[in-house]
Amino acid sequence: MNKLIAPSILAADFGNLQRDVEMVNNSDADWFHIDVMDGHFVPNISYGMPVIQAIKKHAKKPLDVHLMIEKPERYIETFAKIGADIITVHYESTIHLHRTLSQIEATGCKAGVVLNLTTPVSVLEDILSKCYMVLLMSINPGFGGQKFEDITYNRVKKLRKMINDQGLSTRIEIDGGVSNKNIEALVDAGADTFVAGSYIFKSNNQIETIRDLKALANS
Ligand code: DX5
Ligand code: ZN
Repeated sequence: MNKLIAPSILAADFGNLQRDVEMVNNSDADWFHIDVMDGHFVPNISYGMPVIQAIKKHAKKPLDVHLMIEKPERYIETFAKIGADIITVHYESTIHLHRTLSQIEATGCKAGVVLNLTTPVSVLEDILSKCYMVLLMSINPGFGGQKFEDITYNRVKKLRKMINDQGLSTRIEIDGGVSNKNIEALVDAGADTFVAGSYIFKSNNQIETIRDLKALANS
């Protein structure tokens, strides 16, 4: 499976948002990763609809919208309308997960589920065939720039086995502390899609950092 890189806009310079969106457009990156936080599901508030619309206006690649909000079912149609291409919701945030995924599919967006760092991957067994992608958090969600947690490798392996056993081709995305130090081991474990925020945006040459990450993931 082709390995994808999704720079996290949370780490961009919001005073120069268009410049950073163009940087991603001109890079080897595949998607824009868009983190929406409500201050309830996670202890931080990021940005909402007007900022996403501004990103969409200039973005030439799909928007991968990661909802860290309580009861995401209240806003699915809105996020689809303003330009989301992929919408992922946390398993821990919505009571009727199957219904929420159907709601995402009905908008025409691709649907995915996110698991917090220690939510067992086994909870996905009966919903996997409905997931375009599973996002495994490799940090506690809410903030960029945190340290990658090594328990993720084993979680990826278990999830990849579950996906293979069901004969599916579900993507596994990793979010939190991804860098050149762990991306190859994550690929070996079975992941194929990588969010990276601070590692890309804090680097001196962002285009080169993205190119190198993508090359490492596909080597
Ligand atoms: C955190 C977000 C991440 C974050 C990743 O809750 O979901 O997408 O931006 O940032 P880094 O790559 O800096 O850990
Ligand atoms: Zn995210």
